[in-house]
Amino acid sequence: MDMERSPSRPISPLLPAEDDPYAYALRRAEDALEKRWLHKVLVALNAPAGWPPWAVAGVALAGSGLMAMSWQALGAGAWAPRLLLLLAAVALWDAFVLLAQPRMGLAFGPFGSQFVILQIPRWTAAFLAGLLVRWWGAAPAFALLAGIELLAAVLLAWGAWVEPRRVEVTQSSLDAPAFPPDAPPLRILHISDLHVERWGRREEQVLELARQLRPDLILLTGDYVNLSNVDDPQAHADARRLLAGMSAPLGVYAVLGSPPVDRNSAGLFPDLAVRLLRDEVHLLEAGGRRLAIIGMDCSHDILRDGERLRRLCASLPVNAYRILLYHSPDLMPAAVELGIDLYLCGHTHGGQIRLPLYGALITSSRLGKRYEMGWYREGRTHLYVSRGVGLEGLGAPRLRLLCRPEVTLVTLGPADPPINAGARGLCRRAREGRSVHYGPSS
Ligand SMILES: [Fe+2]
Repeated sequence: MDMERSPSRPISPLLPAEDDPYAYALRRAEDALEKRWLHKVLVALNAPAGWPPWAVAGVALAGSGLMAMSWQALGAGAWAPRLLLLLAAVALWDAFVLLAQPRMGLAFGPFGSQFVILQIPRWTAAFLAGLLVRWWGAAPAFALLAGIELLAAVLLAWGAWVEPRRVEVTQSSLDAPAFPPDAPPLRILHISDLHVERWGRREEQVLELARQLRPDLILLTGDYVNLSNVDDPQAHADARRLLAGMSAPLGVYAVLGSPPVDRNSAGLFPDLAVRLLRDEVHLLEAGGRRLAIIGMDCSHDILRDGERLRRLCASLPVNAYRILLYHSPDLMPAAVELGIDLYLCGHTHGGQIRLPLYGALITSSRLGKRYEMGWYREGRTHLYVSRGVGLEGLGAPRLRLLCRPEVTLVTLGPADPPINAGARGLCRRAREGRSVHYGPSS
């Protein structure tokens, strides 16, 4: 590109005047989501991560045995041995799928907790099928159960081995009316939720894509290591290796993600060319285009973080294109009110596991499914919620279903020349939200 790098400068480090820095730093480490049920369930379900193999196998045997006993009690005792065999076979398959992930460079999560969690829906299905014996008879109920368990086995392999394997590039173009009409397009690569456990296929691909796509600017929106690896020096070294490999003519800018995930991640950035923005605004000028990059820490407290955003925006120059980097989409209402032009975030992982017609099962957003993934436009604000690159941590199985990992290439250009409203609508639809496969093939 023909743009030279312009010096960027913080114009508004935010520190409430009434507070002392130490108390402010402590408050910033809090996370509203840590008090919610989802985080507590994830922590509780991670308990088997530290169990020895015999304990994990014992739980699997005990659970399957209980299900066989339930079938006996429900009048299908003759089918109990076949049920035990079925549950043992699918449990072995689950173990194989999970143990193969590290060898494939796809995920490196704790085996015990993931394995036990996968058995819970299998046992539930066995119990519910047992309830059908009374009406359907044992053979049809067993056939239905076998079909469900086998379908789950196929979906597990797809979610664990196939979808996390390839990082997609989602490409979009947006008008930037604030840019001079003769300014060249500005290419922004947005990357979110890396969740590095170890150096693997996705880390390799992200680095390769960052080189191949040749963006002018790279913007990162948090969650650099996996929640299971927050205190893991190797994961931090690998995340640092990934960040160190990123460069762009106008720079690489980053914000932190959820406090429990990025508790130690600020330590990744010293000595790197990646600039970590913590409640700061940086101005960039290149080729006549003026950008204000607003980078904020995320506490998932909408009111508190929204107020901090308001204070940051009070000092912005009027004619700059405003880009907000904040880990979750929860500040969208405030961003619209404050005239943010482009708001980039992640956090939801698009649900990571999605159902046809329904979408994300869980978003972990304070606003639920309102901004679960992709593009949203309200007022002048364009919001992009990335599906992210990595996988949820702790006991959550390292799966993606109907929700591939992604990075996003956003091309900002000057406003289109005036055309009639109907043609403009068609043009906008054609230019926004195009998703393509790009880069290393699987
Ligand atoms: Fe995340």
